[in-house]
Amino acid sequence: MERFYLKNAAKYQSLVDAFDPNAKIRVSTGEAGPNMVNKTFVKRRSIPVCHIPRALQRNVVDIHDLYNHPRGSPILKSFDYEVDYLFDSGSTTEVIYDNLVADLVPFSWNGGIGTLFAYGQTGSGKTFTVSRIEKLVAETLMDGNLEGEREIYMTIIDLAGNSAFDLLNERTPISLLEDSFGVTQMVGADEYQVYDREDMKELVERATAFRRTAPTLKNDASSRSHAICRIRIYDPATNSDGLLY
Ligand SMILES: Nc1ncnc2c1ncn2[C@@H]1O[C@H](COP(=O)(O)OP(=O)(O)OP(=O)(O)O)[C@@H](O)[C@H]1O
Ligand SMILES: [Mg+2]
Repeated sequence: MERFYLKNAAKYQSLVDAFDPNAKIRVSTGEAGPNMVNKTFVKRRSIPVCHIPRALQRNVVDIHDLYNHPRGSPILKSFDYEVDYLFDSGSTTEVIYDNLVADLVPFSWNGGIGTLFAYGQTGSGKTFTVSRIEKLVAETLMDGNLEGEREIYMTIIDLAGNSAFDLLNERTPISLLEDSFGVTQMVGADEYQVYDREDMKELVERATAFRRTAPTLKNDASSRSHAICRIRIYDPATNSDGLLY
């Protein structure tokens, strides 16, 4: 399949260039369209991946795949998605943090459950972006601007296939079990109390050191597993927790 994309990279590019988001038929035939601006092409090993924020709809993205038509030349299959925010290769992690994550911190501080989930193909930048975001969370949580006293605890684990490991305890195997209330528990994972932003950063770095990586075609240091960082924010006044994953 990879060979098919490589062989047809130029064809793909010309079909994408001619893509018209307003065309009724979603399969591009090669006609040029009027609304093509702000194109961002990310090329990896000459296989283009294309996201095009539309001129008039900044929150709609078109994803294009080249379809190996069994009778004839390859055609473009395009899918559009409407999202709350769209970032391109020029967006910094700080911008992503400000738009998507910053509000989750006071929300969890006040008892909510906040989750940030990074999903995407190998080499797309999940580890890079989330590692920096974890440090920005540490700064926001610990800079003293949030109201009230809290105790903060961290657990960081790794899921690899059917196994789970404690990344803060030398990758000791742990169990993920559902309790009688239907809540998933990380049995055997250590929880560490943190007192300042340096404590949090130190734990994030310790966990990173225990994540295994292996090269893939698109990422020399691919994670090959799923890491989960849980920050439990305990409010002694109400004896309740907020959680930030
Ligand atoms: N925004 C960015 N700016 C500069 N370099 C980046 C950025 N995002 C990712 N990279 C670089 O791209 C490479 C792949 O990123 P990363 O390891 O974060 O991908 P990943 O999504 O975690 O992949 P995998 O699923 O294989 O673990 C790394 O060398 C990383 O430093
Ligand atoms: Mg990774």
